[in-house]
Amino acid sequence: MDMPYNTSPSLRVRTTSLNQLKKTADLAIENELHVCPSIMSDELRKLLPPTSETVMTKPFPIRGERTIADCTTPHVIAMVGLPARGKTFISKKLARYLNWIGIATRVFNLGEYRRHATTAYKSHEFFRADNEEAMAIRNRCANQALHDSCEWLLSGLGSIAVFDATNSTHDRRQLIYDIVVKQHGFRLFFVESICDDPQIIEQNILEVKVSSPDYINMNTELVVRDFLQRIEHYEERYQPIDEVTESHLSFMKVYNAGKKVVVYNNEGHVESRIVYYLMNIHITPRTIYLTRHGESEHNLSGLIGGDSNLSARGHQYARALSSFIAQQQIDGLRVWTSWMKRAIQTVADVKAPQERWKALNEIDAGHCEEMTYEQIKERFPEEFKARDVNKFAYRYPRGESYEDLVARLEPVIMELERQGNVLVVSHQAVLRCLFAYFLDKSADELPYLYVPLHTVIKLTPVAYGCKVEHIKLPIDAVDTHRPKPKIPGDVSQPGMDGLSGELVAPDGVGKVLIVGDDVATATAASSSSSNSNSNSNGNGGARLDTQ
Ligand code: SIN
Repeated sequence: MDMPYNTSPSLRVRTTSLNQLKKTADLAIENELHVCPSIMSDELRKLLPPTSETVMTKPFPIRGERTIADCTTPHVIAMVGLPARGKTFISKKLARYLNWIGIATRVFNLGEYRRHATTAYKSHEFFRADNEEAMAIRNRCANQALHDSCEWLLSGLGSIAVFDATNSTHDRRQLIYDIVVKQHGFRLFFVESICDDPQIIEQNILEVKVSSPDYINMNTELVVRDFLQRIEHYEERYQPIDEVTESHLSFMKVYNAGKKVVVYNNEGHVESRIVYYLMNIHITPRTIYLTRHGESEHNLSGLIGGDSNLSARGHQYARALSSFIAQQQIDGLRVWTSWMKRAIQTVADVKAPQERWKALNEIDAGHCEEMTYEQIKERFPEEFKARDVNKFAYRYPRGESYEDLVARLEPVIMELERQGNVLVVSHQAVLRCLFAYFLDKSADELPYLYVPLHTVIKLTPVAYGCKVEHIKLPIDAVDTHRPKPKIPGDVSQPGMDGLSGELVAPDGVGKVLIVGDDVATATAASSSSSNSNSNSNGNGGARLDTQ
């Protein structure tokens, strides 16, 4: 039975009220300029880039710090390609990256619109070009998804909408162009995924289509057969983007999961970054291991920052880590550390090529370096409180913020995307940023992610997400996690950090969390296993904060 579009509220973006808001805001700005062209209100002034030198020295646009036109022009990234060509993989991964670097991005997936609009999908027949009834539904869904993408951008809530659909004909792309570029004045960039490698296609079908809501309770063989027939229906009408007849479009073509890339009419900073990112990602299976350095002398005295040596237990962890890594027998492993002594000492015995990255150094606490939290609170009470109010954006005096760290770490993420198996040995704040990228965590959650000492976090890319395992090696260590306090600036309260606890079992051992589409199921499954472990605190008595 078909359902009208407005019965799928989860997919609908607030339109009327936000449009209203936008009109009011536009009017306010217009009036402001009209009434008083030379003296701006505080509101208007906020729209200008700050005058601090940060703008000049930071290599990347940092949230809220840059308002150059190219960054603020809304973009629609429209996917193109036959089914099972990795369009959703690219869309989700790209959105995760863009959100992480501070560009608000959302994916509008046409398959989801279709499933909300109709339960009519019984088999590949739905996608036959001569199935008029189904075609009408599909067209309506496509129009609605595009409309919602544009409304979301108009609302000012987001900067980039990724329209994840096949968009496989010339006419469809022209319609998108007319609406996005001509009607709204947004920028439009097509990303076409072309693949003729049957192995990649089959792997894609097995990894993501077999578990699709279209095929609930259907056996794998039937799913593969049905999906291949679905692809055939699309092939009958598919027109790859044509450089000659569609020369007005900006686009990128990715062949066989990145073997070859063609870029055409690429314009502006945002598009260039998207192209660069998509050129770097790959789908070859690999694992990334993240760990903090072993416990340091400063950790023992509760001092932040500095460049101290490992404690005796830190050295024990270094030895345990090298045995653990040797046992894993990881193909072609590379080891990356910061330039800090405690990180380098941690991998002293690890047998693999090593590289040092300044970008992996711990957050610079500026004037607060080598102080305890209590000392900071006493000497800089206002600063201490300000950090608790917005920990992500807070910048230590003469130091860095988490936001700065994300910008500093972008080249690390880009290189991690290009690599195979890597062990990254770094620091609490830095690993929170890297972890947030892989787990798609928001800026609010990021500074509170739980990254304990003496624990290896193993990340394995799967389907649209990442499998996460916390492996705690059996060496005691202090706990340096400071949860978000209920009252900003309070060091005595136990805190209300409900954000990080979900990511780790109380004993930190053997926890497996699949991040991505399956996050809810995986969290539910793992919480039952972590409950059964809740009394076996394997950290040897150190406080573990899991609330
Ligand atoms: C779908 O309905 O599953 C996708 C439709 C499309 O993108 O063509």
